[in-house]
Amino acid sequence: MNWTAASLSICAMLLGPSVQAAQPAAAGARPWLNPALSADARARAALAAMTLDEKLRLVFGYSDQAVTEVSKVPDDIVSPELKAYIVAHAVKGSAGFVPGVPRLGIPDQTQTDASIGVRNSLIPSTALPSSLATAASFDPEVPRAGGAMIGAEARATGHNTMLSGGVNLAREPRNGRNFEYTGEDPLLAGTMAGALIDGIQSNHIVSTIKHYAVNDQETQRTSLDVTISAEAMRQSDLLAFELAMEKGKPGSVMCSYNLINGRWGCENDYLLNKVLKHDWGFKGFVMSDWGAVHSTADAANDGLDQFTGFCCVGDKPWFAPPAMKQALQSGRIPERRLDDMVERILWALFDKGAVDDPVRRSPIDYAAHALVSEKAAEDSLVLLKNDGDLLPLRGVKSVAVIGGNADKGVLAGGGSSDVTPVGGAVMIKDRTFLPDAPLAELQRTLPGARIGFDAGTDPRAAAALAAKSDVAVVFVTQYDSEGYDGSLELEGNQDSLVAAVANANPRTVVVIESGGAVFMPWLRQVPAVLEAFYPGIRGGAAIARIVTGRVDPSGHLPISFPASPDQLAHPDLPGRGLPNETPVHVTYDEGAAIGYKWYDTRGYRPLFAFGHGLSYTRFALSNLTARRDGRTVRVTFSIRNTGKREGKGVGQVYVMPADWKAAGWEAPKRLGAFAKAGLKPGQSRTVELTVDPRLLATYEAAGDKWHIHAGDYRVVLGDSSDHLTQTVDLALPDQAWSASAAPD
Ligand code: BGC
Repeated sequence: MNWTAASLSICAMLLGPSVQAAQPAAAGARPWLNPALSADARARAALAAMTLDEKLRLVFGYSDQAVTEVSKVPDDIVSPELKAYIVAHAVKGSAGFVPGVPRLGIPDQTQTDASIGVRNSLIPSTALPSSLATAASFDPEVPRAGGAMIGAEARATGHNTMLSGGVNLAREPRNGRNFEYTGEDPLLAGTMAGALIDGIQSNHIVSTIKHYAVNDQETQRTSLDVTISAEAMRQSDLLAFELAMEKGKPGSVMCSYNLINGRWGCENDYLLNKVLKHDWGFKGFVMSDWGAVHSTADAANDGLDQFTGFCCVGDKPWFAPPAMKQALQSGRIPERRLDDMVERILWALFDKGAVDDPVRRSPIDYAAHALVSEKAAEDSLVLLKNDGDLLPLRGVKSVAVIGGNADKGVLAGGGSSDVTPVGGAVMIKDRTFLPDAPLAELQRTLPGARIGFDAGTDPRAAAALAAKSDVAVVFVTQYDSEGYDGSLELEGNQDSLVAAVANANPRTVVVIESGGAVFMPWLRQVPAVLEAFYPGIRGGAAIARIVTGRVDPSGHLPISFPASPDQLAHPDLPGRGLPNETPVHVTYDEGAAIGYKWYDTRGYRPLFAFGHGLSYTRFALSNLTARRDGRTVRVTFSIRNTGKREGKGVGQVYVMPADWKAAGWEAPKRLGAFAKAGLKPGQSRTVELTVDPRLLATYEAAGDKWHIHAGDYRVVLGDSSDHLTQTVDLALPDQAWSASAAPD
C-alpha cells in the first residue's frame, strides 16, 4: 500500500468538501479565532483564509544562527520581507523560529530546547534532573510537575514550543543522549516522557516528542542506516513513542537524523505516513531535527510537515520556500499535501492553546521552581548499594568529600539540552556544572561535622584525607553529550581514586553523576553507592539530603547496568572512530530485546538490574491478584511499609508467557505495570493496575495486527526485574486486533 496516498485521502476526508473548494474568508470573518469551535474546524478555517505565501511561512523554520546571519542569505532564497520579520520577531538565543501570519492572528512559533529546561544562551533557567533521572522516580507525577515548571518558564520567556520529550530507548548503553531519554523499557519510557509532555503542554504551548525514530546512538547520527524489522520496532522503540503520544498528546513530533531501513527519518513513508499519521491517528505535525532535510518533494510527500533548522547562507537550496513553490507548480507536491502540512501545524497551535493564550514575557519565581527540581531529584536518585546500612550517615564527626568537582557544582549533560542555569554555570573543561555544590550542601546538612575536601587529582592525597575521617564520600562524574557516544569506563583516574579511598577507609560512599550506566570495578570494596545521574539545579541539596537521611531514597533504575563490555548487544559501536558522516550500517538483530530483555535472553547477570533501587525503610509486597478482562489483564497487590521510617515503595509487575518463544516474544518477560506509593511506617496501600494489551502481544506485520497468543502466562511482582517475589498464573485466549485500532 502507498501510505502517502492513504494519508492524503484521510486528509481529504478530514478537510471535507468546503475546504477542498476553499475560498479566502471574507474580511472580518475570523471563525478560526473562535475558541468555541473545535481545533479541527479552526485549523480548516484558518487554512482556507491563507494565501500560498502565508502557508509557506508556516512550513519553514529558521535556527538561531539563521536569525543572526539571515541578512547574508540571497533574497531569492529568503525574501527581504521575511528576513526583516525573522530578525524583528525571533527570540534571540534559542533553538529556532517559524514566522506566523499576523494578518490572521496566527502566532510565530518560538522554539526552545529541551527536556531539562529552557535553553537560551541569553536567558537563565531552572534545570531539572536529566530525563533519565526523573524516569528513575517510577512516578509519572515527577516528570509531569517538572514539565509544568519548565513549560511555565518557556511561556514566561516568550517561547510557545518546547523541543522535548525525548523517548528513544536506551538500546545502546553508550548513547551520548541516553540522559535526555527515559530508559530502556517501552512502558516506563513512554509513561515518563508522556507525563513530561503533558506537564509542558499544560502551559498552552506545544511540546515536540523526539527523535522519531530508532535514533539510538550518536556516533554517525546523520549517516547511520539502521536495519530493524517492523515487528521489532513496533514492540520496542515505536511502542515507547506510541505510549508517550497517547499519554502526552504532543502537538508535534521531531523526526530524526538517521536512516531507518534505507530511508531518512524525515523522509520515511512507513514511519511518518503509515505508523504515525495513519495507524496512530496523529493530527499534529512532524518537524525535522535541525537540518535533517534531504529534499523538498520526497520529504513532503513522505510525511515531513515542517522543514526546521534552516541555518544560514549556503544551506541546502531545497530547504526554503522557493524550492517548495517550484515543486508545487510542477505538481511534484500536490497542493493538498501543502494544505495538510499547514493544517496540521495550525491544528497543534489551536489544540494546545497557543493561539488563544499567547505567550508573554513575565517574571519567574525561580526559588519555587528550584524546589520543583529539588523534589524531582529527591524522588529519582537511586541507592544502588548500602551494605551494613552505612547510609544514611549518622553521628559522623568527620567526613572526607573527594573528587567530582563536588566543591563547585553538579554535572549536566552536553548539547542542545544544556541550559544556562540560574546562578550561572560553572564551566570546567567546556562542561556545565550547575552551581549547587554537594560540598556546601553536606556542610549545611551536617553542621556538627568536620568536612574536608580533596579534589581527587592525586589518589594518595585523597586516601590520606579519607584515612583520618569517619567516612569518605567520593564523587565520580561521567560526561555525556549530544553528538557523540560515551564510554562505560569512568574517565581519567576515577576508578583508581575510588579504590585508593576505599582502601584507606572501608566506610566509603560513592556518588555517581553520570548520563547512564558505568562500570564499577571497585564495587566489592565499597559498601554504599548512590546513582545521582545528572541531578539538576538543586542536585547538591538532593544528594546531601539523601546521604544524611533527611529524605528516603526511592529511585529505581530505568536502565540495566552491564557488568562488562561483552554483555552488550553490539560490543563494537558501529561507526566509532570513522570520520564524521561516513555512511555506516547497523543491523539491530537483537530486535526488541533491549536492556533487561536482552540480558534475560542471554542469561547474563548485569551489574545492577533494571528496576533496582534500595530504600532506608523496608517494603513488603503481597496479595497479588491477576485476572483477564477482555484484552487486558487487571492486577491488584498490596504494598506495606514494614520499616521504621517514611518512604516510597515501588511495585513492578512483569508478565511472562509460559513459553516465550512459542508466544513469539522477544524475551522471557516484559514490564507490564508499575506503581509507587508514599507510606508511613506500618501503613499499606492496595494498588490496582491494568496491563496494556500490547504488552501481552506481538506485532505481526503480515496482517498489520497485534496478536496475543493463546496459552499460559505468569504475572509476577517484585521491586526489581531481578527480585520477583509473588506470582499468579492465568491462561489467555488467542486474540488479535488491528494495529491501527485504538487500544481498549
Ligand atoms: C538536536 C535536537 C534539538 C535541535 C535544536 C538538534 O541538533 O538533535 O534535539 O532540538 O538540535 O536545537
